[in-house]
Amino acid sequence: MNLTFTNIVCGYGDTLVVRGVAGQVQGGRALAIVGRNGVGKSTLLKALAGLLPLAQGQLIWDGRNITGSALHTRVAQGMAYTPQDNVVFADLNVAENLWLHLDDRDADRYTDLFEQFPLLARRLSQRAGSLSGGERKLLAFSRTLGLRPKLALLDEPSEGVQPENIDRMARLIQHRKSTGASFIIVEQNLEFVSAFADDVIVLDHGEQVLQGAFAELGRERIERHLVV
Ligand SMILES: Nc1ncnc2c1ncn2[C@@H]1O[C@H](COP(=O)(O)OP(=O)(O)OP(=O)(O)O)[C@@H](O)[C@H]1O
Ligand SMILES: [Mg+2]
Repeated sequence: MNLTFTNIVCGYGDTLVVRGVAGQVQGGRALAIVGRNGVGKSTLLKALAGLLPLAQGQLIWDGRNITGSALHTRVAQGMAYTPQDNVVFADLNVAENLWLHLDDRDADRYTDLFEQFPLLARRLSQRAGSLSGGERKLLAFSRTLGLRPKLALLDEPSEGVQPENIDRMARLIQHRKSTGASFIIVEQNLEFVSAFADDVIVLDHGEQVLQGAFAELGRERIERHLVV
C-alpha cells in the first residue's frame, strides 16, 4: 500500500485553504497531520478522502491516479474516512451505527474493539444520540476500524475522549499497523500522536511548515510550531 500526494491545493469556492502540501504513507505506517486550530487540517483530509475537489495536485494510490475519484470509489478500494464532527447517526442505536451499510451482522468484526471499549458492547441498543461527545468519537473510530481498511483517514479521533480510551485507541492503531494497515490522522494531541506516528506534517496557514519522521524531528520541535 502506498498513497502519495503532491502539491495539494484546495479550498472552498475561490478561497484556497491548503496550498502545496505533499506527503506519502505506506502500508504499516501512520502519518500524522498536526497544526493549530483553523490551519486547514480537516480541509486537507477531506481532499485526500475525495470529498473536496483539488484546485491543483495529484494523488497516486498503489500506482493508480485517483485524483478525481469520489470517496465511495476509494472506499471500495480499501480507504475509510471518519470526519471530525457529526460522526454518528444520533437517531440510530449503537448497533445500527456499527452495521449500517454492511451485509453481515458478524460481531467478530468488532471483537477487538469491544474488548478495548466495553461501553460500546453494553450500549448496542442505546440511541447513539444519548452518548457523550467522546463516546460518539469512540463509536465512529470503532466503526471505521471494523471495516478493516487498508488506509484509514481519521480527523481528530481523540477529541473529547477519556485519556484511558485514548491510550486504547493508540494501541489499536499500533496493532493494526503491525498487520499492514496504514493511517493518516489529523490530531491536536501530540501525546497521542507520539504513540503511533511514523511521520508527521505540520500545517500552518494551509502550508506545510515542517515534515519528516516523527522520531527524528522530535516532539519538542513539533510542539514549538503548535504554540500560538
Ligand atoms: N465548508 C467550508 N466553507 C468555507 N470555509 C471553510 C469550510 N470549512 C472550513 N473552512 C475554512 O477553512 C479554514 C480551515 O478550516 P479547517 O476546518 O480545515 O481547519 P482545521 O485545521 O481542521 O481546524 P480545527 O483544528 O479547528 O479542526 C478555516 O478558515 C475555515 O473557516
Ligand atoms: Mg479540523
